[in-house]
Amino acid sequence: MYDEDIVKYFDATENRETREDLIFAVNMVREDKIAIDCGCGSGSDIDYLARSGFTVYGFDVEQESIARCQSRFSGMDNVVLSQSSFTAFDYPQASLVVADASLFFCPSSEFKKVWSNIYRCLLPNGIFCGSFLGKEDTMATPGDNPSVFWPEVTAFEEAEIMGLFKNFEVLRFKTHRSTGKTSQGITHNWHIFQIVAQKPNKSKHSDALPDMAALASAEKI
Ligand SMILES: C[S@@+](CC[C@H](N)C(=O)[O-])C[C@H]1O[C@@H](n2cnc3c(N)ncnc32)[C@H](O)[C@@H]1O
Repeated sequence: MYDEDIVKYFDATENRETREDLIFAVNMVREDKIAIDCGCGSGSDIDYLARSGFTVYGFDVEQESIARCQSRFSGMDNVVLSQSSFTAFDYPQASLVVADASLFFCPSSEFKKVWSNIYRCLLPNGIFCGSFLGKEDTMATPGDNPSVFWPEVTAFEEAEIMGLFKNFEVLRFKTHRSTGKTSQGITHNWHIFQIVAQKPNKSKHSDALPDMAALASAEKI
């Protein structure tokens, strides 16, 4: 791990602009304003969610993230923080699950379990808002990569992402591709899928899990 880089990353993202997708997702939730921020980093999404009237359960595997968020949201009863991995976290029922640039680092051997937990914790009509790494991203290239600050990366084909959301209504889907320099000055190809999707209302659809077979080829990098 590159601890110094993680600290710099958290410094740089602490007050970043709220993504349009998150604003859209928040506006979709009218009642039961309970959100989970998976891999919350320095807390910029927690800040927006809490200010939008949500009770927010934020978790992250990094002690540095949780220490920063504890200080940032100190005294706020509607922000509940835990240091936890995607796998160990005990997902409460929620109307919104946010995972921006974080499931990139979910170990592939654990992804099915994590995705099933996310699906199950969402209330009927609940919203997922997050992003997934595409296989053409530099981070998905095998071998040592200075842009990868966490030990594992899981990348997907577009069809696999569609399989994950088979039982959702996809409200927004965007593929982001660009080439540029990282903050370390290294050339990087970005390939990211951004998605906002709604879990159906139970009365209209079955509560079946998403299509896990589509994940069969999700690669351990
Ligand atoms: C690229 S950062 C994104 C942070 C935040 N979501 C944001 O948009 O600013 C990825 C985050 O995922 C967290 N993370 C990495 N592996 C994790 C794991 N196995 N379980 C939980 N969080 C993890 C990192 O500590 C980091 O905060």
